Amino acid sequence: MTNSLHLPFIPRTQVLRLPVPHALRLALPSSDHAEAALAALLNGGEVPSIDVGRIAAQIASVHGHAVLGAPPSWTDAQLRWAYVVLLRQLGRLNGRYGQLFDVVDQGLNHKKSNAPISKTKAATGMHTDSSDAAYNPDLVCLLCLQPGSKGGQSLLASANDLLHRLRKTHPELEAVARKAWPRDVVTPGLKQNHDAIAANAIPVFDQDEHGLVFRYMRFWTERAMAKIGRDVPSELTQLFDFIDADMDRNALKFKMKRGDMLVANNRTVVHGRAAFEDLPGAARRCLVRAWVDGFYGSVQESLPLRA
Ligand SMILES: [Fe+2]
Repeated sequence: MTNSLHLPFIPRTQVLRLPVPHALRLALPSSDHAEAALAALLNGGEVPSIDVGRIAAQIASVHGHAVLGAPPSWTDAQLRWAYVVLLRQLGRLNGRYGQLFDVVDQGLNHKKSNAPISKTKAATGMHTDSSDAAYNPDLVCLLCLQPGSKGGQSLLASANDLLHRLRKTHPELEAVARKAWPRDVVTPGLKQNHDAIAANAIPVFDQDEHGLVFRYMRFWTERAMAKIGRDVPSELTQLFDFIDADMDRNALKFKMKRGDMLVANNRTVVHGRAAFEDLPGAARRCLVRAWVDGFYGSVQESLPLRA
């Protein structure tokens, strides 16, 4: 558990890579069988047991993320299969948007509708996933099938490091960050009226039995305030400006390659994406997102015991 008074502070300059487990390579279905094997997995079929202890330890540590580079020569179905097998060792795949959600430009505009930014080509701004106060995925994962031709770099930043710097330079803003602020309700199927938005309030920094929980979505918070007719207090704008400027300076920026699997701890790692453009005739950018629940329970109960 993280000590709230003495946060670990480890500045990083590059994304942390780990090898793909050898057992995953050995268990890989042939390209002819990969589609069927993937469908069986997504329908609840049995998952080969793979040792992911090192990966889990890195994600649960202060580093909070890992990137595994699977061979780009694997077919899309083989890559998706390996991704699902890997993630199922770490917890359960959440099905709210489908167990695997292809992040591609669908020509939508999140500023003119309730469309999630994951269906646009816009820069996302730094954020953690899920705008629903009642649901926060433990892990946010991305598999790169096509990096795209222009833009689309991935960004990662540490909430622990951010809090450390906030306490050093603007300690008065920590209380603002620990207060619950409304966020717009964009999850399909949830009520989206005034009361529902006002009730969908989440603090930026929180703490539970596993340590720090950072939940940040500036765009959806400011839009929620506008929808329910509340002014954004100046201290909240000051907090958001600090967070954005800090992450601008300190986020890791990197381009995912085909086969890369990013697993990020959604409680302590903030992520983002630069705007991108699919050029005519070139392969369209496609990343496959998955949300994993139950990672913390998994770490305590079964991960260290897997061989
Ligand atoms: Fe995201």
